[in-house]
Amino acid sequence: MIPAISVIAAFPELVEHACSLGVTHRARERNLWQFRGFSLRDFATDARKTIDGRPAGGGPGMVLMQGPLDSATAAAREWHTATELRGNDAGKTKIILLSPDGDRLDQAMAQRLSAEPNITLVAGRYEGLDQRWIEKSVEQTISIGDYVLSGGEIAAAVLIDAIVRLLPGALGDSESAITESFSAGLLDWPQYALTNAAGNADIPPVLLGGNHALINRWRREQALARTLVRRPDLLANANLDKADKAFLDKIKL
Ligand code: ADE
Repeated sequence: MIPAISVIAAFPELVEHACSLGVTHRARERNLWQFRGFSLRDFATDARKTIDGRPAGGGPGMVLMQGPLDSATAAAREWHTATELRGNDAGKTKIILLSPDGDRLDQAMAQRLSAEPNITLVAGRYEGLDQRWIEKSVEQTISIGDYVLSGGEIAAAVLIDAIVRLLPGALGDSESAITESFSAGLLDWPQYALTNAAGNADIPPVLLGGNHALINRWRREQALARTLVRRPDLLANANLDKADKAFLDKIKL
């Protein structure tokens, strides 16, 4: 199964571009996932390529209309069905709307979505989308944070990046997605780049000592201390053993 992600947006090329560099690009080249963008304007039915209308009841801004959203979704479903024939095992694509009023994206959500064979991300623009279409078609709404972007495209690119890097084989070192920040429920420990003897001055000596048990303990404690200072809320759900708790009790004093 090769996961397939489609994006329906006013500017799908924004998402496509974000996915044409770095990890997401390499993963796509290696056939670890498939992408297809659908531009809403391609599904407008009038000569002026209208995709939005004035809000019922008045007020500023414009609202994406049902018609182009319906047609774009149908085209996306068709693409997912075709990719399914090429090996995906789910006939149905999960339709996710990116919007500031959605469930907040976190690492656990990215993990869950990385197991989905078919995802269609719908990026809102303007003042929003017609509520009738949302109720009829959207399975989940996701926000990437408590701020308002001028469109959901960048949010879709963020979500895709968070998902794709978790696909097996996407990262060079298969461990790095697991050991890093957040997977363990803690922030990352500090890292230092080895250069030459002179450039290695001021690196914490334990990291140069070669004792891996000591290095692991030091890193764990740095991660614990950093999380306590910067994001104490994360500690409630982190997986902590007795030594971790003793260390936190010690530094909290
Ligand atoms: N569209 C606009 N702002 C957004 C946000 N914070 N998250 C997801 N989609 C959005």
